[in-house]
Amino acid sequence: MFARQIGSGTLVNVNCAWKPWSRLGLTKMAEVQRYSRAEVATKNGKNGAPVWIIYKDSVYDCTKYVDEHPGGPELVTDEAGTDTTKVFQEAGHTSDAYTILAKYKIGELPEEEKHYDANGKKKKKVVAAKPEGEKRSCLNIVTCGLLG
Ligand code: HEM
Repeated sequence: MFARQIGSGTLVNVNCAWKPWSRLGLTKMAEVQRYSRAEVATKNGKNGAPVWIIYKDSVYDCTKYVDEHPGGPELVTDEAGTDTTKVFQEAGHTSDAYTILAKYKIGELPEEEKHYDANGKKKKKVVAAKPEGEKRSCLNIVTCGLLG
């Protein structure tokens, strides 16, 4: 930053930090704000709390939209603080609703709390394999049955 004189004595601060992306005609990518599921849960619309929802790993602040909701405010406030992905999709919203929703995006879940991969596909749940000793084959069951 340095001060530069313009016209008859107006001092204006000019930001002269070196910005390689702007020299290349690029816009700096904004950092994504992260909110945990636990934090979103506190924005449940109760006692004056804001109305935040999660849809496909993104976090939306719908506080200002609640009263405009065509289905009535309760449908949104009842879901405040939760992951509404399934509910939102099952409500049969048109593309208009998705366009409006996008305007209220304020951030995303931390990577480790996300349910969708970078391509928007649902991540597979990792189920722990049973220890070898606990496996019971059909043969074991039949043998046990025969031996009483
Ligand atoms: C999360 C809980 C929500 C539920 C359960 C829900 C449910 C519904 C239902 C049942 C309707 C149909 C109303 C009718 O035809 O009378 C509707 C319409 C609509 N909702 Fe929601 N909604 C939710 C959240 C939202 C949010 C967060 C937005 C946008 C920010 C939104 C935008 C709209 C719009 C624009 C319509 C008009 C019809 C359409 O274009 O799909 N809704 N919603």
